[in-house]
Amino acid sequence: MTDKYAVIGNPIAHSKSPLIHRMFAEQTGQDIGYEALLAPLDGFSATVERLRKDGYKGCNVTVPFKFDAFKIATQLTERAQAAQAVNTLKFDGNIILGGNTDGAGMVRDIEHNFRFPLRGRQVLLIGAGGAAYGVALPILQAGAQLALMNRTREKADQFAIYLGKLGHIVAVYDFLNEPGRKQFDLIINATSSGLSDEMPPLPATVFAPGALAYDMMYGRETPFMKFAREQGAAMAADGIGVTDGIGVADGLGMLVEQAAEAFYLWRGVRPDTAPVMARLREVA
Ligand code: ATR
Repeated sequence: MTDKYAVIGNPIAHSKSPLIHRMFAEQTGQDIGYEALLAPLDGFSATVERLRKDGYKGCNVTVPFKFDAFKIATQLTERAQAAQAVNTLKFDGNIILGGNTDGAGMVRDIEHNFRFPLRGRQVLLIGAGGAAYGVALPILQAGAQLALMNRTREKADQFAIYLGKLGHIVAVYDFLNEPGRKQFDLIINATSSGLSDEMPPLPATVFAPGALAYDMMYGRETPFMKFAREQGAAMAADGIGVTDGIGVADGLGMLVEQAAEAFYLWRGVRPDTAPVMARLREVA
């Protein structure tokens, strides 16, 4: 019998998850069904209950329900606990296991697809919302030095205190009020600023030669990505970092890799992500 899965969100119509999981299933010979479900804003837990009653084996969870999913889970993985958010639920009898595969997916994309090992790197994580919380611990666990920055400084400070309680020392940067020439190897935009065609205030000097600029959004070139490309071009024109300018990444790789982690959590099988990513770039 086909095992049923779904992704729940609001909105959900443009989700690429059904396509990704169907490609994973075909490639690995797993017999699963996967659909996109729109839940009413106040109807997340009722939707999950219906799925469990109907024999579904699990679901992915996207905006705006990741915190609802965190609350509904009866067991949490360490990463879901640290992120205070859940993007993958696995149903097993009375147990609702909550996992968060976003951070692991991003680390895999950066280290494996971009061949950019994180150990010892200086990383600037911009944003202090759910997206940033979701990836901080896996980045630290990969051995990077983490610094935070956020438009609302207090939220960055709270985030730093939270990570401190988990045993990690992180710095908070505020380039507007404390200009300096601090450079980073990896700059991650985990803000939603791209949605409004804006970007966080960053000095051009923030990119170390050979840096990677990573935007968690996909489907468009954000002002942050454009800015990074321009700085890379400027570096090349100056003769600085010509051989190792600035790499620019969108969030499509993270999307596919987090899906692969979820697929593994459910099925115990690791799909090959490269052909799926190539296909998504073709249809995008
Ligand atoms: P998510 O769960 O996607 O992270 P969120 O919790 O609403 O969404 O957080 C959005 C993040 O994007 C916040 O860090 C927000 O900064 P504030 O804490 O100051 O609100 C950041 N953000 C949104 N629009 C931004 C913009 N135009 N410039 C800079 N930061 C922005």
